Amino acid sequence: MPGPKHDVVSIADLAPALPSLLARADAMKRARQRGDLSRTRPGTNLAMIFEKASTRTRTSFEVAMNDLGGHALYMSSRDLQLGRGETIGDTARVLSRYVDAICYRAFKNADMRALAAGATVPVINALDDKEHPCQVVADLLTLYERWHGLFAGRTLAYIGDGNNVLNSLLIGSAIVGLTIVAATPAAYRPPAEVIASADQWAKRSGATVKLVDSPAEAARNADALYTDVWVSMGDEAEKEARETAFRGYQINQELLGLAKSGVWVLHDLPAHRGQEITDEVMDGPRAAIWDQAENRLHAQKAILEHLLPTRSG
Ligand code: CP
Ligand code: NVA
Repeated sequence: MPGPKHDVVSIADLAPALPSLLARADAMKRARQRGDLSRTRPGTNLAMIFEKASTRTRTSFEVAMNDLGGHALYMSSRDLQLGRGETIGDTARVLSRYVDAICYRAFKNADMRALAAGATVPVINALDDKEHPCQVVADLLTLYERWHGLFAGRTLAYIGDGNNVLNSLLIGSAIVGLTIVAATPAAYRPPAEVIASADQWAKRSGATVKLVDSPAEAARNADALYTDVWVSMGDEAEKEARETAFRGYQINQELLGLAKSGVWVLHDLPAHRGQEITDEVMDGPRAAIWDQAENRLHAQKAILEHLLPTRSG
């Protein structure tokens, strides 16, 4: 009998497996460069429900399923009966009869949880208003390959909004033992329960989690700098207020000068050039952003391989 299904709603759901997932993603990346696609999950199917736009997540999940020998079915929530009022629970029950896993990009974390509760197959969070766990597996992979798998003693500084990406980054960094300092305006700090969860993981791994107001304080002597948009999908009504509140929360050449000389710059993309990051930094020699985007594919393959059943083909 199969065990209980394994959802990835939060990055914490991957906690014990995270280091081995990074090693596996790294190995599959190198295999792919040699022409070996790692066809380890033939005959599997992934349903992909998207309520919001996506370039990277959608493409990397679809290519990942192809590589593994499986198949991905992209569904805009507007085209499903979901858009006409069928419940999330009923949708989850039905899709579970066809596919081996469901990935879901949702506006609300409550809807993500409802899908996970109704589905009898694994549900993977492809971004909601609370977390973006798959992104953070790729982010950690990008640093893992630059630091030869060693996170202990390194510091990641995040500059900007206390949003879904930061929430997953705080918890994910703490799990792997990477110290994280996040600079956000006081009104845009991550929720208390996310900070508490990150603190718990950090206690076990030996990392530190710190929240500050000042971008300069966070960036000083950092090994990596990370930023994300000031206005996330779903926050558009607050655009003006946010653009005022986040002025100064920018990764630019001056901030880069405060970090270690070997610093790497990360951004999950899409970027708003000239707001949270300058062209000079994005297009400069310290940007690991394009490898980070590529790594979504290799990270996704490791996550999918971890969750999907093995079939003979
Ligand atoms: N970083 C990320 O999730 O990008 P998309 O919105 O293009 O999927
Ligand atoms: N915080 C951003 C991430 C986009 C990938 C958003 O939610 O829009």
